Amino acid sequence: MRKRWVGGNWKMNGSSEEISALVDGLVTGLTGFDEVDVVVFPSFVYLQQVKGGLSGSNIFFGGQNVSQFDHGAYTGEISATMLEDKGCKYVLVGHSERRHVFGESSEVVAEKFAEALSHQLIPVLCVGETLEQREAGETEKVILEQLNTVIGEVGIESLGRSVVAYEPVWAIGTGLTATPDQVQEIHSFIRKTIALQHETLADELQIVYGGSVKAANSNEIFSMPDVDGGLIGGASLKANEFVEIVKS
Ligand code: PGA
Repeated sequence: MRKRWVGGNWKMNGSSEEISALVDGLVTGLTGFDEVDVVVFPSFVYLQQVKGGLSGSNIFFGGQNVSQFDHGAYTGEISATMLEDKGCKYVLVGHSERRHVFGESSEVVAEKFAEALSHQLIPVLCVGETLEQREAGETEKVILEQLNTVIGEVGIESLGRSVVAYEPVWAIGTGLTATPDQVQEIHSFIRKTIALQHETLADELQIVYGGSVKAANSNEIFSMPDVDGGLIGGASLKANEFVEIVKS
């Protein structure tokens, strides 16, 4: 039985004061609730603060991105060693905003995935198609390419040490949510594709959905058989709403 997983991707939002209130709200709202793996992804500059606020709770935290390089002259980058040093357990890899706004290729994403694993961080590998690709009937092809590039880099066994997030680009931050059936269709495709190479791993892999999930629709989406939780953006910035999503 796969444990449920819900992440809050705070993106480039928050101030010290807001983060402090958000963390307090989550700790209060989720005390004693450990049926779900809960992870928050603050901006790097608030990691230390979040670490302090979450200490003693059952909520994990992680980085929103990681460099593919180990250390050295890479101005503005954050290494896996640094994330590990700050107590991160997870790191987002290949979020669509990284792929599409900052031009990260699948090859770079795969290198980041490998770098995270070599530092005991659990990568959350984000995959998903744009609206144009969906309309051209290329959804499965795009996702296969994104998955296979990572598998080619680290091997199928290593994929088992990650979480996979299906996030259709057209549903992120747009208010457009994929229907539960559309989500299930792609999650099942991902699981079956992986099962062709490693059945047990596919059975145990947490595959979560992201894209305009909120308290009003999380229950319906999370009840699909191949959906093991969600990666939440906008709605994770409100403690009450995020707690409601986790509990659903
Ligand atoms: P959203 O973002 O919930 O605001 O659509 C999801 C994500 O980017 O992970």
